Amino acid sequence: MSGLISYHGGTPVDRVVTGPRAAELAKEAASLTSIKLTPKQSCDLELIGIGGFAPLTGFMGKADFESVCKNMTLASGTVWSIPILLSLAKGAEPKVGQKVALFAPNGTLQGVMSVTEVFEHDKKLEIPNVFRTEDAAHPGVAQVQAEGDVCVAGPVDVRSVCVDPSGPEAFLDKRLTPAQTRAEFAKRNWSRIVAFQTRNPIHRAHEYVCKCAQEICDGLLIHPLVGETKKGDITAAARMKAIDALVAKYFSPTATMVSVLPAAMRYAGPREAIHHAIMRKNYGCSHFIVGRDHAGVGNYYGTYDAQKIFDQIDLKNLGIQPLMFEHTGYSKSYGGMVSQKSYPKIEGDIINLSGTAVRDLLLKGERPPVEFTRPEVADVLIEAGRQGTLFV
Ligand code: ADX
Repeated sequence: MSGLISYHGGTPVDRVVTGPRAAELAKEAASLTSIKLTPKQSCDLELIGIGGFAPLTGFMGKADFESVCKNMTLASGTVWSIPILLSLAKGAEPKVGQKVALFAPNGTLQGVMSVTEVFEHDKKLEIPNVFRTEDAAHPGVAQVQAEGDVCVAGPVDVRSVCVDPSGPEAFLDKRLTPAQTRAEFAKRNWSRIVAFQTRNPIHRAHEYVCKCAQEICDGLLIHPLVGETKKGDITAAARMKAIDALVAKYFSPTATMVSVLPAAMRYAGPREAIHHAIMRKNYGCSHFIVGRDHAGVGNYYGTYDAQKIFDQIDLKNLGIQPLMFEHTGYSKSYGGMVSQKSYPKIEGDIINLSGTAVRDLLLKGERPPVEFTRPEVADVLIEAGRQGTLFV
């Protein structure tokens, strides 16, 4: 194959069963104890299955969990920043050696796990380390607090995606697996590929950092996260429609690909930036964009904390190269997109709207300034607002 970056840990992971093996698995599952996954667990299971979480082949055991929390590595020493746990309510846990059937929130059988370990969910270890706060108002913290107190670990076999494959948020045509993005990159003869993570529509600042990064790479993978997000975020369906409208008009098809990442957001800021980068490495990308307050929420993280954290890990082990961008925006006096680095801003010169201000405009049916959001994007979002499908 081409000169694409290796999978994290060095070896591809594919735990997806298809054809007769999938039918066998369904038959086997009928006699097993069933576990209903939360949306986050279901997203995680899909990513394990398709190799997006390589080298993981199942939910984490205690040694990996503790090492991730304390050292930001798996027990093997491979860089890893976010625990991938299957936690259950105490009393509901299966026994070691048992197999369990894992059901997606939509009720379909998503996979089967062979339980190799059962251990306490040490939230006191996880929460402050991963989120840098224990504030229950933080959506990621609240989610972990609500999770079960016991974890089960073990390898999985996966037979379905985490959402209803016929539903509006499946994006099957864009739901490429790491093997599929890699095949497409090879076909295009790309080896320097930059990935752009987003959980938002692409506003002008997002577009600018994408374009800057694209200039120094063979190709750009716009890779919006479409798994679980918090209430109040823009729905994946509205975002993807807006991204399609933007890309069709303003991006080069020969240097741009759009695919979706079926991951759940944690809002863990710095730690999640590393996690996002690792997944994109598995998808075959060599570079990863980290801008302002990446994966942040509220005021929990400093503007550049998600960039500084890369100084704390072994970049060689990480493999994928982070591309850091300062806070960018449209400068009226400059007449274009700038950052503090590229243009000495005058106070008040940058057109910058808060999330709430953008939301209010869209819900009133008004476009934000063209310097902030392109009209093609705004119109899709306004229409979604009218239909009541703009927000989760
Ligand atoms: S995130 O949760 O996916 O990080 P968002 O969709 O807002 O949120 O951001 C996607 C990427 O664009 C992140 O790397 C983020 O840091 C970057 N970004 C967002 N806004 C800006 C901006 N104004 N300037 C520079 N980078 C930005």
